Amino acid sequence: MTAEVQPTAVPDFMDPLLQRGARDLTWGIKASFRTYFERLPDHAYDLSGGANRTEGGGFRFPGRGAPTMAENGMWVIPFSGRLVLTAHFGALSVLIADPEVQVSPQGRVSLSATVDEVEGRPACMVIADLAFQGMGGEQISPEANFSASLAREGQYLFMGNYYAGDPLDPVSLRSKPLPERVAEEHQ
Ligand code: HEM
Repeated sequence: MTAEVQPTAVPDFMDPLLQRGARDLTWGIKASFRTYFERLPDHAYDLSGGANRTEGGGFRFPGRGAPTMAENGMWVIPFSGRLVLTAHFGALSVLIADPEVQVSPQGRVSLSATVDEVEGRPACMVIADLAFQGMGGEQISPEANFSASLAREGQYLFMGNYYAGDPLDPVSLRSKPLPERVAEEHQ
């Protein structure tokens, strides 16, 4: 017998992202981690592939194509860009690349990314569980805001210094701006 696929209600925050696509994802990882990291004399942030730093000290990853729905009903919102943090003369090396936000048919939201490369192939991990907090930003480019906590798998990224459920910095997903003509109609 095949399992019946239940119809799912797409969370409201998906509407602008589905209609326009994602402009970018902003995330500060964890402020206390950045403070610790930036105290290390040899620390370096290496940003490439379109990722950049925000004024608030977080990181911004540009949208990569339209959200897609996988066969299991999971929405995937893809982003691009690569961030590598290194310090402690190479002992500390954290990679966060090509992040994705996944929305399950039950409405659970998580943030995953490539965190390693094994024999040239990307190894992905769910880093954070996200909880929708509300919409913000400007009407022309609305953003969905989430609180974030460390996912079970994500514990490995920080070498056991944090535990599953520990609070992380919030995550924002900004939608692409409306085309000018449509934006005028909405004013
Ligand atoms: C040479 C190896 C390392 C040494 C000597 C070291 C040392 C330390 C020390 C002394 C602290 C406490 C800092 C404080 O109290 O403010 C700390 C915190 C921490 N370390 Fe390391 N560490 C090393 C490697 C790593 C690695 C490989 C990671 C992986 C990401 C890491 C991630 C962290 C994190 C996440 C914290 C907690 C920061 C916070 O939120 O306060 N460390 N480390």
